[in-house]
Amino acid sequence: MRVLVTGGSGYIGSHTVYELIRDGHQVFILDNLSTGNKEGAHKDAILYKGDQQDSELLDKIFKENNIDTVIHCSAKLIVPESVEKPITYFENNVHGVAILLEAMKRHNVKNIVFSSTAAVYGEPKNIPIMEDDYKEPINPYGASKLSCEWLIKAAANAHGMNYVIFRYFNVAGADASGEIGQSTKGRKLTHLIPVVIEAALGLRDKMSIFGDDYDTKDGTCVRDYIHVTDLAKAHVLGAKHTFKNKSGTFNLGSKNGYSVKEIVSETERVLGIKVPHDIVKRRDGDPSTLVASNDKAAKILGFKIENNLEKIIKSDYEWRRNKKF
Ligand code: UFG
Repeated sequence: MRVLVTGGSGYIGSHTVYELIRDGHQVFILDNLSTGNKEGAHKDAILYKGDQQDSELLDKIFKENNIDTVIHCSAKLIVPESVEKPITYFENNVHGVAILLEAMKRHNVKNIVFSSTAAVYGEPKNIPIMEDDYKEPINPYGASKLSCEWLIKAAANAHGMNYVIFRYFNVAGADASGEIGQSTKGRKLTHLIPVVIEAALGLRDKMSIFGDDYDTKDGTCVRDYIHVTDLAKAHVLGAKHTFKNKSGTFNLGSKNGYSVKEIVSETERVLGIKVPHDIVKRRDGDPSTLVASNDKAAKILGFKIENNLEKIIKSDYEWRRNKKF
């Protein structure tokens, strides 16, 4: 396949690029490097530095490279930030998809793999969550991604495209090579596992648990953590699915739920280091429990979980101890 990965220098994009290259595909990256890192771009991929909403640049990339599949990873994705800046989130995420689809249409590029999110479900009624379950996002990030999903399905229907939509649960960990991992270019990390690891490494005084009065086993929020390499490999499977003229929407999670307190205690056990922490009030926009059924991805795409929580914690720890960027 000849694949364009938007956001291919970012956290999930860079791991996806690595897996595509390991599987023998030709990869092109479009990234404005605002949150992505130049060093995160695989040396065998061709990097176009620019904005995903730049139609002329998209025309140039499609014209020059005979792309057959787009994996669209560039987006704004921080839940609390979306609560503060909803207009920015819709503008960037939904308008960004519209511009991309328009360019794909102009150049007859038929296949798209899209990064969506568990946040589309809002506060789920059933656990584990199935793809067809009720969706009512409780934050602007989830709402913007659900709008993107509708747009992609409608465009695919109208213009004969194939799509795979992946709803990510909580992605963490780093590539086994030690070359790439999650980095925020000097901005503060917000996701739980890296925050806990930073506290374990003494890179922050302590971490704060946001609320212990949820209706869960220990009062803290429960999430489904998936290793970024397992998730990246799913993108290769997803791209191949579109290549066979097939479409579908899939959860990407592990089926296992861990509470915030369990992540803290499991990190302490795996690393043998204390994680200094306190408990503060709830954060806006947090559903209490998000755990995925991944049966559909397993059955239709052949998706597998190969890395458990211990591997997630160890690989993020190794990355953070020897960070390359
Ligand atoms: N948390 C803390 N302290 C922290 C950071 C997080 O207690 O310092 C808690 C949060 O309140 C939440 C849980 O840890 O309950 C996980 O929070 P993250 O910020 O790591 O991730 P989110 O669950 O908010 O969001 C992530 C992705 C979304 C995706 C969602 C799906 O960013 O894109 O997982 O489960 F939709």
